Amino acid sequence: MSQHTDLVLVVDFGAQYAQLIARRVREAHVYSEIVPRSMPIAEMLAKKPTAIILSGGPASVHVEGAPSIDAAIYEAGVPILGICYGAQLIARDLGGEVRKTGTGEYGRTELRIEGSSLLFSDLAVEQTVWMSHGDSMTAAPPGFTVTARTDAVPTAAFEDRDRAIYAVQFHPEVAHTERGQEILKTFLYDAAGCRPTWTNVSIIEDAVAEIRAQVGDRRVLCGLSGGVDSAVAAALVHKAVGDQLTCVFVDTGLMRRGEAEQVEQTFREQFAIDLVHVKAGDRFLEKLDDVIDPERKRKIIGELFIRIFEEAARDLGRRERSGRLGGALDAEERSASTAPAKFLVQGTLYPDIVESGGGDNANIKSHHNVGGLPDDMDFELVEPLRHLFKDEVRAVGEELGLPEEIVWRQPFPGPGLAVRIIGTITPERVEILQNADAVVTEEIKRAGLYREIWQSFAVLPAVKTVGVMGDDRTYAYPIILRAVTSDDAMTADWARLPYDVLERIASRIINEVPGVNRVAYDITSKPPGTIEWE
Ligand code: XMP
Repeated sequence: MSQHTDLVLVVDFGAQYAQLIARRVREAHVYSEIVPRSMPIAEMLAKKPTAIILSGGPASVHVEGAPSIDAAIYEAGVPILGICYGAQLIARDLGGEVRKTGTGEYGRTELRIEGSSLLFSDLAVEQTVWMSHGDSMTAAPPGFTVTARTDAVPTAAFEDRDRAIYAVQFHPEVAHTERGQEILKTFLYDAAGCRPTWTNVSIIEDAVAEIRAQVGDRRVLCGLSGGVDSAVAAALVHKAVGDQLTCVFVDTGLMRRGEAEQVEQTFREQFAIDLVHVKAGDRFLEKLDDVIDPERKRKIIGELFIRIFEEAARDLGRRERSGRLGGALDAEERSASTAPAKFLVQGTLYPDIVESGGGDNANIKSHHNVGGLPDDMDFELVEPLRHLFKDEVRAVGEELGLPEEIVWRQPFPGPGLAVRIIGTITPERVEILQNADAVVTEEIKRAGLYREIWQSFAVLPAVKTVGVMGDDRTYAYPIILRAVTSDDAMTADWARLPYDVLERIASRIINEVPGVNRVAYDITSKPPGTIEWE
């Protein structure tokens, strides 16, 4: 990152908390990176961190093979904050004491601040914090001052201001620790001297400079999906290299209603980006004719998507050679042999990189590859979001002027509505689902629930049911309403939608969408269900 930004390293001891800590640090406007605990200290220090945070971890410092860290870290002169397991490591490594006392603390705990503490300097004596530990710190290391206790633990926090080493048994990064963010900020600003310079504006400036340095004056290709990541990546690259960017939007015909128009409107009209809109709905439907197996649907869509994207990239290469932008190719241009654009934009996010083991190589889950890039194409990747968490991507998108509908769009599967149409996919069934889905989205937005719900959508099953409308018997499709809450899509719970919202959705769908006479609500969590129906 830029030299104007301080860096905080979050050393990951294997708990789920490291990413949360890194995000909280960034919310305090300081750039942070997660590093595995196995990284040699010299390598950590070579990154010139302004501070280091040792994260929590699932282990006990007493079990065999418990993760540890080279004690040289304490001598490096870089301010350190140990959290939970990280605090216990400091206690153990520097001559304090950690014991299996038999009284762990889990959940909301009352903390009592003692003596004078830099970390807690602005806080009331009694604090509510979140604990999750079995072993307890029973003595601080020599030279440290104990700064807080709980009923069960006499040494819940300690610090040595001269060495700038701080340890807290509780988790300041979780929302249940009421003043946790203030404690983190005090560590960052007052104890470590970090400057709050990591802002949307600085993120954009850094990304623009980096993209320009990588790309020079060569051409860049970007696949748009309609989702937030590719949209923000494209907008950033466009800000950096303007006309050198061409976006390709493969319209599968299986998008949400109005999505393709939104992409056109935003990128071609608002941003004046060179956009190739490949309207391939017919080709997808033709290949999907009579296909009902979900995995075959996915495979067919994935392969065709890649083929069409490659065609578009080749066309672009020919266009480049013939030295002009925009418009369809004539026959001569089409037959010219040529090399495609050299760079491909990819909306890889920071968590994708961290999950793959802390290296620099993105590891995109194959599941999520549909709608992504062909992986055997000869491109150098431009990944302007690879330092960013999702919430930062959204903030940058807003800063760049992308519309709310794109920036806050709920996740959508690459194969699109195909995995929400159970059984055969026909133009009529796609239209039914698009219309029902549009009602769901409108009503969830109207109720103010769109952002807090992870995904909310309609599913079209392959059965028909009997109903009655006026004096007539109907025999038509039901729509299944699916709405889930989740943090990461790995697990999910069905959303407790208010009855009046459910009622409005159901009555509008039945009244407004021809071919539907019933609405059911899916109350399955994940596991055992999945979010999508196929
Ligand atoms: P499931 O249905 O497995 O979905 O609980 C988890 C998350 O992944 C999305 N999803 C996909 N995304 N290509 C994608 O890009 C796919 O083939 C695919 N299938 C599911 C789903 O919408 C949810 O957010």
